Amino acid sequence: MRILNPPVFLLDPSEEFRPDTVIRETGWEFRKYRSDIDDPALNSVYQTYFDMHSNQTVDFVNEKMAHWTKFDKFKLPMLEALDLLNSFVDSSDPDIALPNAVHAYQTAERIRATYPNEEWFHFAGLVHDLGKVMALYDEPQWAVVGDTFPVGCAVAPSVVLQESTFSNNPDTKDTRYNTKLGMYEEGCGLDNVTMSWGHDEYMYRVLKHNNCTIPQHGLDIIRYHSFYPWHTGGDYQHLCNQKDRDT
Ligand SMILES: [Fe+2]
Ligand SMILES: [Fe+2]
Repeated sequence: MRILNPPVFLLDPSEEFRPDTVIRETGWEFRKYRSDIDDPALNSVYQTYFDMHSNQTVDFVNEKMAHWTKFDKFKLPMLEALDLLNSFVDSSDPDIALPNAVHAYQTAERIRATYPNEEWFHFAGLVHDLGKVMALYDEPQWAVVGDTFPVGCAVAPSVVLQESTFSNNPDTKDTRYNTKLGMYEEGCGLDNVTMSWGHDEYMYRVLKHNNCTIPQHGLDIIRYHSFYPWHTGGDYQHLCNQKDRDT
């Protein structure tokens, strides 16, 4: 394992720049990037999404899936992974980036306050972001953090920065992938959809591989927690089946 020194600045745009309360109050407008903004953090967010949306293709995701689901890179106890995530924080930006481990415990505690008897749910909250450890193994941030979206079909309007960040993505010019359904069938279900590669899908696969006893709907929460264009934006309903609608 290569520990980066200085620690990488792992800012997760999904977590830090779009709390759900802000979404409710402002809609999506505040996520429209303005190139005249003189804000290094926002410019960094834009660059992360630009790189993500340029490079996340069907072929790229298939390669990453094959690479990471060999599960031959490392063994890491959950508590050690939580500690490691703390090394990702940029201490020079305390206002915009919580240590990832603090975020993990806060998430677990908030779930416990609301669902005190659902222990699996507390645990799911604690570990939901641990897939970010991929960043310690040279995975670029645009393949680790941020919102996720389906590859292999047209990009929906609610994908963040959709209007300005996909022009370099070859799949947008590929007729197999650039229609509304693309390579999918109507109502195929999210289980059969290939999502952009990131910490959600990786952590889901890690938990499945280790026969984790979190109920399937809890594993699905982990798998799709960054799929804002679906669970918050309301897009991609044509790919969903009844199970997805019930989730
Ligand atoms: Fe996350
Ligand atoms: Fe999170």
